[in-house]
Amino acid sequence: MADTGVSPVEQAKAAGIKLLKEHAVIGGRRAPVGAKFIEVDNPSNGRVIGVIPDLEPADVQAAIQAAADAFPAWSKTPQVERAALMRKWAALIDENEIGLAALMATENGKPFEEAKGEVRYANSFIKWFAGVAESLHGESMESPTKGMTILSLKEPVGPAALIAPWNFPAAMITRKVGPAFAAGCTVVIKPAHQTPFTAIALVDLALEAGIPEGVINLVTGQPGAVGEVLTASPLIRKLSFTGSTPVGRTLMAQCAPTLKRLSMELGGAAPLVVFDDADIELAVAETIKGKFRNSGQTCVCPNRVYVQRGVYDAYLEGLTAAVSALKLGDAFEPDVKVGPLIDRKGLEKVKRHVAWAHEHGSKVTTGGTPARQEGLFYTPTVLAGGDDSLFREEETFGPVVPVFAFDTEEEAVTRCNSSDFGLASYFFTRDFDRTMRVARALEDGIVGMNTGLISNAAVPFGGVKQSGFGREGSLYGIDEYLSVKSVTLALK
Ligand code: SIN
Repeated sequence: MADTGVSPVEQAKAAGIKLLKEHAVIGGRRAPVGAKFIEVDNPSNGRVIGVIPDLEPADVQAAIQAAADAFPAWSKTPQVERAALMRKWAALIDENEIGLAALMATENGKPFEEAKGEVRYANSFIKWFAGVAESLHGESMESPTKGMTILSLKEPVGPAALIAPWNFPAAMITRKVGPAFAAGCTVVIKPAHQTPFTAIALVDLALEAGIPEGVINLVTGQPGAVGEVLTASPLIRKLSFTGSTPVGRTLMAQCAPTLKRLSMELGGAAPLVVFDDADIELAVAETIKGKFRNSGQTCVCPNRVYVQRGVYDAYLEGLTAAVSALKLGDAFEPDVKVGPLIDRKGLEKVKRHVAWAHEHGSKVTTGGTPARQEGLFYTPTVLAGGDDSLFREEETFGPVVPVFAFDTEEEAVTRCNSSDFGLASYFFTRDFDRTMRVARALEDGIVGMNTGLISNAAVPFGGVKQSGFGREGSLYGIDEYLSVKSVTLALK
């Protein structure tokens, strides 16, 4: 950063403010804030950062129409040209990393350093899927019927609606847009109303990179109302949603009359298991990485930890020390590792979970109280023992780690799988046979062995059971945006 006499944090904030734009994007037109708007605030201090349009259904329809109108040309644009445009977009995201991170830290509350990491994570999906676009191909095979050849052509499903959550304001957008563009789909993005500005800035950069008007649209407004228009439209052929299981079910039902392709990345209640042969220091360090990402507000965060009795005390002691050392505070304070919850409802849920655990026999080894800071902060907390039933079925979505003891591998696997959710799980061991046994036995879409971080562009990301279906990222991610057309050739 240039030496202007202004501190790097102030420079970053200024770069963020430069990117903050209060508009929707409908067919390349910036739709400004009108009579109806939604305020967006900074969860670190409650101050209003800006406003976004609360669009009318007709505006959402216009965005859908723009995506439909742009689809024929975009889907026929050569793959290498689409990939080149995606790379230009990625280069602009790289150039604006600091500003995007500052904007994200301001509207989401995640620590600024972590926000920078998210911008890089987000951009990895654009870069990865630019590569996938270049190598996208169908197949041909000989038919069992003599003299016939079958071609499988891969075609984009059509205009896609992408509904993204607030916890990863950049990455959950690009993880959807990347494969959509690579496949040749146009998109209408609905960012979360709590964190729209990072998304708007990303879309502005996409247009600056030369992504044609109408190919990328962004609508803002009340989630239910916008969702109804997107799901009802016959022009939208695909819906990708990241969010809660109840909302996923509602959207699915709304999509039924128009039979859209669906990807549902829904809730989780991830277990983390520490076996008695594990490297305990590593297990503690990785628990912290996985659990406290985005202040515990991640679908794949460990929601419940099971520790084999022989190493329970050592792990608990190590974890308690590590958690009590985590600095809580405003996203821009130096060395902050944990920020605020996104809103009052989030904070109340964390308090309810800690109170419930306490009533059901858990002991607090550190934290356990709303923080001394005003507002939405909750002290990083470790709970020991008690009943795990709430944590099997409800994600806390906050900086709380409940730890339970177990005796046998079989018991651990049973307790892990005793949940309606099946998004992610983690285990720590040095035994290879156990690794394969446990990895196969866990009923989850994503499993981490000896790591608390399981997300990157190459990982097929998605759940089973009530955590949804479909995969994002990886070579599978693009399939969600493609139809296979078979062409049978009867050749002489
Ligand atoms: C999520 O919480 O939905 C996404 C987390 C990730 O990408 O790792």
